[in-house]
Amino acid sequence: MIVLGIETSCDETGVALYDSQKGLLGHQIHSQIDLHADYGGVVPELASRDHIQRLTPLTQAVLKTSQLELRHLSGIAYTSGPGLMGALMAGASFAMSLAFSLNIPAIGIHHMEGHLMAPLLEENPPDFPFLALLVSGGHTQLVYVHEMGRYDILGESIDDAAGEAFDKTAKMLGLGYPGGPEIARWAQDGDANRFRFPKPMTDRPGLDFSFSGLKTHTLTTFESTAKTAKDRHDVAAGFQQAVVDTLMIKTRRALEETGLRRLVVAGGVSANQLMREKLRLMTEKVGCDVFFPRLEFCGDNGAMIAFAGMRRLLAGQRNGLGFAARPRWPLSELKAPSAL
Ligand code: KG4
Ligand code: ZN
Repeated sequence: MIVLGIETSCDETGVALYDSQKGLLGHQIHSQIDLHADYGGVVPELASRDHIQRLTPLTQAVLKTSQLELRHLSGIAYTSGPGLMGALMAGASFAMSLAFSLNIPAIGIHHMEGHLMAPLLEENPPDFPFLALLVSGGHTQLVYVHEMGRYDILGESIDDAAGEAFDKTAKMLGLGYPGGPEIARWAQDGDANRFRFPKPMTDRPGLDFSFSGLKTHTLTTFESTAKTAKDRHDVAAGFQQAVVDTLMIKTRRALEETGLRRLVVAGGVSANQLMREKLRLMTEKVGCDVFFPRLEFCGDNGAMIAFAGMRRLLAGQRNGLGFAARPRWPLSELKAPSAL
């Protein structure tokens, strides 16, 4: 079975082809960073307009590089939520129309399930069950993954997501967009221990996160300096360390509480090198295996959607004729393909 995957939930257009026998055949990502950079964040209307322009040429390109034609497709998977409504509609309309014209099934995929599956695209993928730390621009969640589609949310952010905190903090420091990679770059030459940063909610029980207080603390700290380049480097480094330590402490706690011995880390923030290093060290210490996506599949991409879609389509799941795009869609509402 060859599945075309389409991702358009936010500011990346991703397309990919996944073969259930041969694995990933090819993928293409178009990032809208340049389009939104002047505004310091994603402008939803511009995102939708760009997705619809990119989808056909990107699909042609991925078919060409994989030496395939439309008639070879056996199904289409697209991100149907959560995300920006207009952006989701662009992908859903394209995917549903193409599936209709080719008379093949289409399936809407939960964006975070896509992220969660991304490490399964690598060699030596994890077995189920595992603990997943999902860290993206819109979500920060610790999830007990019993099997594909059977998820228990153990903890999540009660305010800003980790990626969102990176983005907003970068903006406050006068750094570029998206903020995660910018903060990480500035942090490289910074002294993370010059200022004291809180590690929110780590001193009380539970697995929920909160990053908005840390964000305010970072602003206050930065405002108290002369705002030199060195101050920016040091504040960026301190902030990054506080976020990473907080994520690490809660993840270790979740591993201890669940007794799970496998950790999957995914979503845009999982590209953060400091976090990858610290989680590697922590998991080694507690004797558990850790799985990351390759760097290009940490952020949004079509490969993870094609892969998740292939699994659901193979189990016989497909959409009805009307399509659903759900800007809000709790992960816990999903069902395992085997239970459908
Ligand atoms: O998964 P993703 O591409 O989109 C959503 O589903 O939200 O995640 C994007 C987020 C942004 O907030 C971005 O700043 C953050 O991931 N990010 C990073 C890094 N690279 C991307 N955060 C920290 N360090 C990075 N290296
Ligand atoms: Zn994402």
